[in-house]
Amino acid sequence: MSEAVNKKKVIFSGIQPTGTFTLGNYIGAVRNWGPLQEEYDCIYSIVDMHALTVKRDPVKFRQQTIESYALLLACGIDPNKSIAFIQSHNPSHAQLNWILACSTQFGELSRMTQFKDKSKKHPDDVNAGLFTYPVLMAADILAYNADLVPIGADQKQHLELARNIAVRFNQRFGDMFTVPEPYIPKVGAKVMSLQEPTKKMSKSDENQNAVILILDDKDTIIRKFKRAVTDSEAVVKYADGKDGINNLITIYSAVTGKSVAEIESEFDGKGYGDFKLAVGETVADHLAPVRDNFARLLADRNYLKECYTEGAQRAFKLSNRVISKAHRKVGFVDYR
Ligand code: TYM
Repeated sequence: MSEAVNKKKVIFSGIQPTGTFTLGNYIGAVRNWGPLQEEYDCIYSIVDMHALTVKRDPVKFRQQTIESYALLLACGIDPNKSIAFIQSHNPSHAQLNWILACSTQFGELSRMTQFKDKSKKHPDDVNAGLFTYPVLMAADILAYNADLVPIGADQKQHLELARNIAVRFNQRFGDMFTVPEPYIPKVGAKVMSLQEPTKKMSKSDENQNAVILILDDKDTIIRKFKRAVTDSEAVVKYADGKDGINNLITIYSAVTGKSVAEIESEFDGKGYGDFKLAVGETVADHLAPVRDNFARLLADRNYLKECYTEGAQRAFKLSNRVISKAHRKVGFVDYR
């Protein structure tokens, strides 16, 4: 990645280190990040500061952050092609967060559906960080003047807010930030729970049968798919009201690259049992290299540390220029 003459478009995305990535994280976001490295200047972050909005055990949190970083590399992020770092290692995010918070309205943050959902889920800890979370997310993106942000559908509202903040800041202080575009996959932008297929698949689901973790072993993956909630029709067809089957077709399509029509004809005359088994086996085989890479990477803590340390230094070099410019724009006194 050339940091001096930066002609390629810039990509930024992040994922919270709140446990093993789910199949939703993977299909909706992370697996698309690797291929983008060939065409863009990519910056990927394990966003530990975002994860702090929910109470965590510090020892477990530290371990999960390192594991998530290893998992990011295991999913094909090459630290020589991209900048891969841990968010809290680059102070620019917190700095820009404050400046952008002063260009964000209380009303717009109150409308964020994720805030509403999470405050319902953790009524005993509706902290200010949870409320201002989308401002930090805007800072992550705008600190690198990212052009594109590859995300799943559930992050679209936050991205919209980041765009509004960028536009507002530019109008008030003069051109400063690139207004980022979402990059949402056509297939698999919202992978649903295997147990309640009208809800998105989520790491925090209490029912572990609802969630495929990308480090689950083959038997576990197959077992979870076998138990997936479907309907009583027993026809593998994508149709309104068949949320469970639609989700399995989407997953199978995302992993195999086959179209819905191809999948319907492949399973024509076959029952749900055969279909679920095929989805389970295909997903497990697809994820096998990720599991192997992860085990290898996690065994080499020194290498991981070298990668995230260098990643943070490179990230800071880029974002610090943006911060200096933002400071000048808002009228802070220059001291260097
Ligand atoms: P997080 O950690 O919840 O999820 C990481 C990515 O996975 C996508 N995703 C899904 N996609 C499809 N189906 C699902 N069931 C599913 N569940 C999750 C998410 O859309 C996301 O792209 N706020 C972000 C992290 C973040 C960020 C950023 C992202 C912080 N700063 C800046 C982009 C740019 C989040 O909590 O993602």
